[in-house]
Amino acid sequence: MNTRASFGSKLGIIMAAAGSAVGLGNVWRFPTEVGANGGAAFILVYIVCILLLGLPVMLSEFLIGRHTHANTVDAYRQLAPGTWWVFQGYLGVFTAWFILCYYCVVSAWTMKYMVSAFCGQISAISDSAEYFAHFTGSPLEPVIYLLVIFIFTHFIIIRGVQKGIERFSKVMMPLLLLIIAILVVCSFSMPGSRAGMKFLLMPDFTKITSKVVLSALGQAFYSLSLAMGCLCTYASYFTDDAKLVKTAGSVISIDTTVAIMSGFIIFPAVFSVSEVAPDAGPGLVFITLPKVFQMAFSEYPIFVWLFALMFYLLLLIAALTSMISLHEPVTAFLHEHYKIGRQKAAVIVTAVCVSLGILCTLSFGPLADFKPFFGMGFFDFFDFVSAKIFLPVGGIIICLFTGWKLDSSLIWNELTNDGRIYIPKLFFWLFLFIIRFLAPVAIALIFANELGVFA
Ligand code: TRP
Repeated sequence: MNTRASFGSKLGIIMAAAGSAVGLGNVWRFPTEVGANGGAAFILVYIVCILLLGLPVMLSEFLIGRHTHANTVDAYRQLAPGTWWVFQGYLGVFTAWFILCYYCVVSAWTMKYMVSAFCGQISAISDSAEYFAHFTGSPLEPVIYLLVIFIFTHFIIIRGVQKGIERFSKVMMPLLLLIIAILVVCSFSMPGSRAGMKFLLMPDFTKITSKVVLSALGQAFYSLSLAMGCLCTYASYFTDDAKLVKTAGSVISIDTTVAIMSGFIIFPAVFSVSEVAPDAGPGLVFITLPKVFQMAFSEYPIFVWLFALMFYLLLLIAALTSMISLHEPVTAFLHEHYKIGRQKAAVIVTAVCVSLGILCTLSFGPLADFKPFFGMGFFDFFDFVSAKIFLPVGGIIICLFTGWKLDSSLIWNELTNDGRIYIPKLFFWLFLFIIRFLAPVAIALIFANELGVFA
């Protein structure tokens, strides 16, 4: 056990975990949800969900991982040997694997858009919807980008936990935060950006419906990389002096800041171009934004180039660090559980995910009419099964496991580093209450909502 890898520093731990959390979910999915659910009111509900449910569930994953220092399957096996709880470990590995298979598709798009932005093509697009459909629908180009992005991810993974994941995150996350700051300032300075700020800052409470609350809760879990093996596996590399509550607090703050700032980049820009509606849906980032960049800086093409380049670079960094965090739990599981060499394990994961990823990519092109899974193509199927079924089920099981199966003294010892750090008793009791009662019920509601029970 002593030879097992670990992160080298507390900053490295925070940057790696934040790298997992900050991803397409923040820059692509969050603004889309904000647009679809009425702006500021959604953001308020989202923040409540993060604090009330995201924090306790993240802490559970941290303490399970750090206590066992093992991959998710062996973690549950150590804590509850011979019971069906081990199923959750396998589910975590499966979920990571399934998410990776379709997450890589959108990540590959961000790489294509970054390259296009760099080559000055974004400023020259005349019909951005056509451009997007043409690219995603072609049989070869998206596959090439997919291969490139996977080779990159693979390279980081095989360099290991400290030299690969930690070092990459420590360089990329500050760069990402810097780009965000620059883009926010640019976006604010656009004429007409006030309407966008108003949309994000003035809550209209009449817009808060049960659908908005459930969407916010789902978004909170997705954005924090919760309810599967990701953070649990990263936490297994935490050192014994890492402070779990403080780390979770930092990761949550970074993740939420990036999500809200992405809103502040996108909406003032979108509103400054009055022809474009804020609730443009999933195409917002790839179809609407190129148009917005062009119109907003129509007199200064150099700014179109710069803004687009920085924006898609931001998206690419966010996507890459999350892809790494989805790759690692599966690699760690194969490596430790089946005693396969780490390099070989990584090759297996990459090969399988690339193959399935290609099928997902092609479901926007040549395989568009191939819908073997209850009328869904590959991309939609992987998305549906992992994000809509595995994640909520995993979330409920993690809460029940921590709340009802684990000894509360074990939890207390992990959260306080065996009594070395102070944690208010009230916080601890609140944590137990949420993890035992509130969180499982809330997640069950999201699950039911996603399955259309309340439709
Ligand atoms: N949280 C990441 C994002 O915001 C995506 C992600 C990485 C994820 N790992 C995950 C989502 C695990 C759910 C579960 O894009």
